Order: sequence, then C-alpha cells, then structure tokens
Amino acid sequence: MGVFLKPDTSVKLGRLELKNPVMTASGTFGYALEFEPYMDVERLGAVVLKGLSLKPRDGNPPPRSCETPCGMLNSIGLQNVGVEAFIKEKLPRLKRLKTRVVANIFGETIIEYAEVARRLDSADGVDAVEVNISCPNVKKGGLSFGSDPSGAAKVVTAVRKATKLHVMTKLSPNVTDIRVMVRAVEDAGTDSISLINTIPGMAIDVERRRAVLSTVTGGLSGPAIRPIAVRMVWEAAKAATVPIVGIGGIVNARDALEFIMAGATAVEIGTANFLDPASAIAVVHGIEEYMRKNGVRTIKEITGAVN
Ligand code: SIN
Repeated sequence: MGVFLKPDTSVKLGRLELKNPVMTASGTFGYALEFEPYMDVERLGAVVLKGLSLKPRDGNPPPRSCETPCGMLNSIGLQNVGVEAFIKEKLPRLKRLKTRVVANIFGETIIEYAEVARRLDSADGVDAVEVNISCPNVKKGGLSFGSDPSGAAKVVTAVRKATKLHVMTKLSPNVTDIRVMVRAVEDAGTDSISLINTIPGMAIDVERRRAVLSTVTGGLSGPAIRPIAVRMVWEAAKAATVPIVGIGGIVNARDALEFIMAGATAVEIGTANFLDPASAIAVVHGIEEYMRKNGVRTIKEITGAVN
C-alpha cells in the first residue's frame, strides 16, 4: 500500500463536480451563512440549505424536537423564509462562497414545487435543487408525494421542466420497496437521488401522559437510523443509473465511508451538526486520512466496494 500526499477527493454528481463528497443535510445547517463564524464552510463539497417553499412558513408549534436514544425526533414543519426572501436576502451572500450551493425545495402542490424551482433557476448562485418529497411532518406535499411512485414522478417531471439546474430528489425510507421509487424518479428525469429522510417516530412523556411533540409524531434521525439508511442506499445504488447521495446518522468519516462503500457517490451530514457545527469538516479530514493511510487515490476506487 503506497503512501502519497494528496488523495483526490473530488466526485461528480452527473455533470455537477464537488471538491469532496461531504455535504450538509437540509434543515440542519440553516442557510449555511450562520455557520461561517464557526468553520470554513468552503471546505465542504456542498451546502444543502434549509427547505424553501413559495411562501414563508411558520412551521409547526413547539415542542417540535426532542432527543431520543442515539438520535432525535423533529417536527419542524418546514419553517422557512420563502423563496423570494431567500433570493433577496441570503443568496447574494451565499453566491460568493467557493462551494456548491444546493437549495432544498418543497411545495404543497406540484405547481408550487415547479414554481420554486423556476424562481431559483433564474436567480444566480444556486447549483442544484434537492426536491423534498419525503418530509413526514406536513399535511400537504412532502411524503404524500414521496410514498407513491406516480406522485413522486409527477413532482420530478414538473421540477425538471422548470429548471436547468441539477435536480436531486430526496426519498423517504417510509416505502415498501425503495427500488420502485428510484426507478420512478429516474424515469421522470432526476439527475441524482438522496436518501434517506427521517423515519416517522413518536415519544411519550409518561409523567404528563402526553406525546412529547406537538404534532405527536415526528421524524427520527441520527445514528439510531444509520444501519437502515446504509441498507437502503445499498439497495438504491444497485437499482439506480444516476448517482446516489447517502444520508442517515453520519457522525464521522467511518460512517460516511460505509455509505460510499454501499454505493453512494456523496453523503450528507445532518443531526451531527447539532452536536458539533464543524462535524462535516471533520468528516472531510477523516476521509482524506483514510485515503492516505489505505493508498486510495480517488473516491471512485472505493465507491460501491460492497455490492
Ligand atoms: C421538517 O421541517 O419538519 C423536517 C423536514 C423534513 O423532514 O424533510
């Protein structure tokens, strides 16, 4: 095994090149600008921003998050500033960052998804849209599209028509066979697929005899879900012809490498950002160190090593 100085960590999601495979997960990294005082955001392969809708949203009432063993439940309800405020107030500052910017988008209807994508398409500074059809915490949109192959395909078709940006579709684990969803969104024209979003869960406060979250159920994330996520990424990667982005409980480089060896081209770090805002940077360094120690020159050499 050779030891060499600079492993090549760059990866390609279709035509979208990232300097390394480490991205942040939507909803755990704000609009990225908030993290600048704490870390060198430009070391990341990409930042994936908080989900954007056509109009601003207040989200669900509190309590809307709580800790669970090895993870957390959330039911934020896609609170956000809305796409217009984002374009005016956040994008001018984001666009000077030397990293890829991925806008996560959401709609209550197919028309809304397409309209958010269209507005981002004409705004300078966004490299890709991540289409969220997997949020378990909203009554309209989200998982109602993402748990049905034909609903998912309709959303992706509409977004595809609305933008020339790279389209990544974020899938839910809450389906019987992930391969069916993979084929549906691929046929509809997605450029890549990210998975998994959170797993619906629930916690009860036994003293108060009430659910902990105001919405009763929420989405479970964190290391507790990682083995499920790795399995689903492995299944998706075998079924897909487009690149896969792995998400689910990654806290360090070894976790990220599990997803890459299961077939993911890149990964997103989510819940770990709440414990340590710089955890995604530590994952970048850890992957470089692994590559150096093990004589791996390019990420491709280990992508899908377990197939
Ligand atoms: C939320 O805002 O409720 C979480 C977003 C998601 O799960 O996609």
